[in-house]
Amino acid sequence: MAFKKLKKTVAVLSIAALTMGVFAGCGQSVEEQTSDNGANDDKIVIGFSMDTLKEERWQKDRDVLMARAKELGVEILIQAANGDDNKQIAQAENLISQGVDVLMVAPHNAEVAASIVEAAHEEGIPVLSYDRLIKNSDVDVYVSFDNEKVGRLQAEYITKLVPKGNYVYIGGAPTDNNAHLFKKGAMDILKPFIDKGDINLVYDQMSKDWQPSEAQKHMENALTANKNKVDAVICANDGTGGGAISALAEQQLAGKVPVTGQDAELAACQRIVEGLQSMTVYKPIPKLAETALDTAIKLAKKEEVETNNKVNNGKIDVPSVLLEPVVVDKENMMDTIVKDNYHPFEEIYKNIPEDQRPKQ
Ligand code: GAL
Repeated sequence: MAFKKLKKTVAVLSIAALTMGVFAGCGQSVEEQTSDNGANDDKIVIGFSMDTLKEERWQKDRDVLMARAKELGVEILIQAANGDDNKQIAQAENLISQGVDVLMVAPHNAEVAASIVEAAHEEGIPVLSYDRLIKNSDVDVYVSFDNEKVGRLQAEYITKLVPKGNYVYIGGAPTDNNAHLFKKGAMDILKPFIDKGDINLVYDQMSKDWQPSEAQKHMENALTANKNKVDAVICANDGTGGGAISALAEQQLAGKVPVTGQDAELAACQRIVEGLQSMTVYKPIPKLAETALDTAIKLAKKEEVETNNKVNNGKIDVPSVLLEPVVVDKENMMDTIVKDNYHPFEEIYKNIPEDQRPKQ
């Protein structure tokens, strides 16, 4: 700990310089909010290296983690790399050089992040893969949702609505291991329909960095290539779903062609109650953040961590905690998102006339 104390003081000074560029959309410094700059050196210090704060859900992860860390009396230092691998590696190395007790990583690139695990282990720092798995590395533990199930839930929902027809699949970032798990889950459900010839997968593409603009372009290409004869769209998350729905709207097809999503973003919940998006997959972020922090603290104390699964990352079977995702649509919005106060009722139904809103 003495060496860590020294490293910590040195590094806090350098972090000031480094963090100048990582405030995506929040305008205030994450560290300053939780770091006590080494006042209490026996405190457990957790480093969190994030890919991005671009999507709403990652901002929620940051906010919930900081609040929970305060409650638990641990220190958390959060860095976001805005989709830049070199920046993520530099930020992670800086957290390591600060002498954090545990490093949590939500990687931009599942393969590239393996070098972060190596660097941390050289300093005896355990690594927790947060939401997204780090591939081909000796990562210590993985905490996420059952991501293949996310894909199965999306495909099960939409094949009930459209058991026959032309399907479009718009996936996530190829650098993100989750994107491949979502797709595998969806294709496992679609395959028997495709084999029977009931469903025709007319377009199938991944979206660089989960960009909604990429998804919109894919949807425009799919509509053009199929003369608007598209019956259903599986989008891997709400961001890409929103992009696809913009393209459908250009052809007066928004609300007529079912579209899936994930993350229960506010904009997606609004689209769902307005009939423009069919469903989203709700992953209660507070549950993920709390489970990850509890697990990280156990790692810091070198205590046994509780896991309920193993996920192979190409090198090892990583001890894992996989949480349950939940389908949300117009029918159960009140019993899920509103009940959990994940988003306020007023904001979800803001475009719905008062007399047509569900009773609270
Ligand atoms: C995935 C994550 C999803 C979605 C996406 C885009 O890894 O599991 O919830 O947000 O990244 O950031």
